[in-house]
Amino acid sequence: MQSAAPIDMIEELTVAVGAAHVLVDDDVRAGYEVDWTGRYQGPCRAVVRPDSVEEVAAVIRICAQHDVAVVPQAGNTGLVGGSVPRPAASGARAAIVLSLIRLTRLGAVDTAAMQVTVEAGVTFTTWREQARHAGLDTPVDFAARDTATIGGAIATNAGGSRVLRFGTMRQQVVGIEAVTAEGAIVGSLGGLPKETAGLHWPSLLAGSEGTLAVITAARLRLVPWFQHTTTALVAVESVAAGTRLLATLRQSLTSLDAVEVIAPAAMRLVSEHLGRQPPVSSPEAVLYVIIDCADHGDPSEQLLDVLSQADGIIDSAVTTDAVQRERLVAFRDRITEAIAAASTEAGVPTFKLDVAVPIDALAQLIEVAQDAADADGCRLIPFGHLAEGNLHLNHIGASHPERIADTVLAAVASLGGTISAEHGIGVAKAPWLHLIRNPAELAAQAAIRAALDPGGMLNPGVLQP
Ligand code: MLT
Ligand code: ZN
Repeated sequence: MQSAAPIDMIEELTVAVGAAHVLVDDDVRAGYEVDWTGRYQGPCRAVVRPDSVEEVAAVIRICAQHDVAVVPQAGNTGLVGGSVPRPAASGARAAIVLSLIRLTRLGAVDTAAMQVTVEAGVTFTTWREQARHAGLDTPVDFAARDTATIGGAIATNAGGSRVLRFGTMRQQVVGIEAVTAEGAIVGSLGGLPKETAGLHWPSLLAGSEGTLAVITAARLRLVPWFQHTTTALVAVESVAAGTRLLATLRQSLTSLDAVEVIAPAAMRLVSEHLGRQPPVSSPEAVLYVIIDCADHGDPSEQLLDVLSQADGIIDSAVTTDAVQRERLVAFRDRITEAIAAASTEAGVPTFKLDVAVPIDALAQLIEVAQDAADADGCRLIPFGHLAEGNLHLNHIGASHPERIADTVLAAVASLGGTISAEHGIGVAKAPWLHLIRNPAELAAQAAIRAALDPGGMLNPGVLQP
């Protein structure tokens, strides 16, 4: 149970970061205490917003002295309850939200090394603008780009649409700066692409979900900015036709940038939400595939060539025009928003699964997921990243979400897949972590965590089965 507010802690935090950045009023804290889906929430003593790595270290030291947990947060776009405090009813200890939203400094782009240093609270859109200003681009992109921040994306090893070309967030981090539970600043922002000297902080912290240290800045890879992008929307007659198309695209096109997938139910929902029909629509479509090719020259011809020879395509639309592309990409990018609107209407927060299976098991996964949704009586909205076999299974109006998760996640594990492809484990998926991590692995993870955070103050409950 939570104890009475330690007033002296609030005073100490105020000295550390300034009164304007220790938020204690109920209505001001409220927005930081609930995730954006409305599914996960919990109270905090204060929201503390440091302005530098030194201030982050001071805040963590104060919390350690007062035995108060620290929940790191910035964009609060997480989908697994990892960036908001745990519910009071769960017996969680008192916590603060450590908001990294003021850490927004950007370094100069090094065009020769193709790197830039950014602080944890920088959004993806700002990072991309900075890169493009220097004639380069960012290797990771996803729909929440305007709000999601670098620190959270590294902490959850975010993926998005360009993973098939450039990898996940983990692969972009060439240097990191973070603060441990004892308030020590660790890591380096030197950005040396080659250094073999034992423990590698970027590798350790990417995907650690705020449990090993609080990320304050990173040195990130940049990639060429391709001026020509061609986008195709393709309706396919079967899942197998979609995966065959994926294989051909990967083998034939060096410009291949993204291969995303939208189930018909998701296409219907987003079309209603946008108030317009997609350029390709067919009652026979089993899946819609959105393909991006990007290059220094126009990649349209090669893409059209592949599409003209592929089998199992019902219909396709291809565009290079920027306005048309934007209108087309909205059918993919705005699905999450359409789901949120439908959930508000249903009066129940969406239950989201983010799973991945080997590509050849995708059809089986879709079948299992649909059966589980039908058994519950909820509406299933699947979409995601075809190239990684990564499906976001969104359940609108689910009555028994845990039952759905039991069925679908067990099937995912038996198909050789993962219960979290890019959103992380957080608290939402922690009960099922044992399906993909054996007892020895869980014990090793707990031991590493205890070594870095013996008091268990960093994001308790997250990543804990
Ligand atoms: C996406 O691919 O759009 C994101 O992972 C968000 C989501 O799953 O809702
Ligand atoms: Zn995604």
